Amino acid sequence: MNKSVVLMVALLIAAFWSCGTAADQKKNEQPGVIRVEVPERPEGQKDVVALRCAPLDTVRVGFIGLGMRGPGAVERFTYIPGTKVVALCDLLPERAGKANEILTKRGLPKAVEYSGEEGWKALCERDDINLVYIVTPWQTHVEMAVYAMEHGKHVAVEVPAAMDLDECWQLVNTAERTRLHCMMLENCVYDFFELTTLNMAQQGLFGTIEHVEGAYNHNLEEFWPYYQGNWRLDFNEKHGGDVYATHGLGPACQLLDIHRGNRMTRLVSMQTQAINGPKMVEKFNKRKSENFQNADQTLTFIQTEKGQVIHLQHNVMTPRPYSRMYQVTGTEGFANKYPVEGYCFHSAGAIEGVPDHENLSMHDFVPEDVKEALMDKYKHPIHRELEEMAKKIGGHGGMDFIMDYRLVYCLRNGLPLDQDVYDAAEWSCIGALTRLSLENGNMPVEFPDFTRGAWQKLKGYHHYMAGE
Ligand SMILES: NC(=O)c1ccc[n+]([C@@H]2O[C@H](COP(=O)([O-])OP(=O)(O)OC[C@H]3O[C@@H](n4cnc5c(N)ncnc54)[C@H](O)[C@@H]3O)[C@@H](O)[C@H]2O)c1
Repeated sequence: MNKSVVLMVALLIAAFWSCGTAADQKKNEQPGVIRVEVPERPEGQKDVVALRCAPLDTVRVGFIGLGMRGPGAVERFTYIPGTKVVALCDLLPERAGKANEILTKRGLPKAVEYSGEEGWKALCERDDINLVYIVTPWQTHVEMAVYAMEHGKHVAVEVPAAMDLDECWQLVNTAERTRLHCMMLENCVYDFFELTTLNMAQQGLFGTIEHVEGAYNHNLEEFWPYYQGNWRLDFNEKHGGDVYATHGLGPACQLLDIHRGNRMTRLVSMQTQAINGPKMVEKFNKRKSENFQNADQTLTFIQTEKGQVIHLQHNVMTPRPYSRMYQVTGTEGFANKYPVEGYCFHSAGAIEGVPDHENLSMHDFVPEDVKEALMDKYKHPIHRELEEMAKKIGGHGGMDFIMDYRLVYCLRNGLPLDQDVYDAAEWSCIGALTRLSLENGNMPVEFPDFTRGAWQKLKGYHHYMAGE
């Protein structure tokens, strides 16, 4: 368990057993709860909620990590106006070289190549880069992100940004101290169904949102041998908990305005056995795994300050259709993405501009043509602008391009980014918090407030646009 985590198992029940009426006892009964330390904000340091930095004329980027995911990001940047790929780095020199071919093919000048264990440090130290884009194994993200910020660079870092609570705080403290952006590259929040549904939610179509589901259910059997140095299976072998929560949680948090007037307060986690995990070690690493930590399926419930519940799942081990679940339950409506995309509404009350109002039903999904009309009417302005180009360039169907485009757009316009360092910490801390719950008989675990009191400064989630 992480050293900085102070476990205060508050078994408050006992103090009340001996006095008061049954009703009093009920009122005062508190289940055991695990609280983790919230380190004091260092003196002179302020929060970075809605951080604005000087607009960048050109986003000059250095990429670290050019394995399965990295080269696609390099390619996407070549299509975004106002960018220049200055440097490319991978542990393995041939991967940096190969990524440079992407630039050549696109008629762009070659970038400077770095390689080896510490090549990334030299990249971060360059004075002609203003963004470091990190696509390396999880275990390396924070060291690189912190170093880059300490050398005056904004940071974009793949998911999850951090792997334990101490790492989350390192990101928060470094971003607050340096006043630089640290964005986690959570792409699923830009997917077409998710962003449209967020727009519908923000315009009140679902009424008060009460429950959201999200997941990473993706059998990785065919991928395990390709992670460089076996980093991903190795991490799963050594760590229990929902270690890859951000694809499911990110969209949920934007719907629920997390740290924009709402916050996640506590979670409880449960898990199945780890049956298939050890089999993967036997199959690919040709050895027995006596103590494989990550369960085949992990389930987590999160309570929010405003009384909503989020249900998260993680399963990368068993054969089942890919699913990020993505389900929204509100007082007036419902949205669902997997396995069937659909909307359902409480009443047949008119939604202006949408046909077949009488078909809006509270018992079933609206008909396909109504769904299409709804999705068109509530298409997010970001999709209206970028959808066509994004689908052409691709990256998980286009959402990756939209993510990179928005990052560059906000940096060039001096706007707060769509995802800030607190999102990175809140969405990444799930691994550590679920582990605490699982290792302690499924006890509730309180979320640390990474904003240290600033979670009510903003009123609602918002994508900033030029001129705001
Ligand atoms: N958002 C998404 O949809 C998505 C999808 C896939 C992967 N990812 C994330 O992207 C990251 C990379 O995943 P991947 O699938 O590309 O893994 P990978 O193993 O294919 O690639 C990682 C690369 O990092 C390099 N690397 C390792 N240590 C390094 C160091 N010290 N300096 C420089 N380079 C180093 C490796 O050589 C390798 O080329 C992970 O954080 C993963 O979670 C995100």
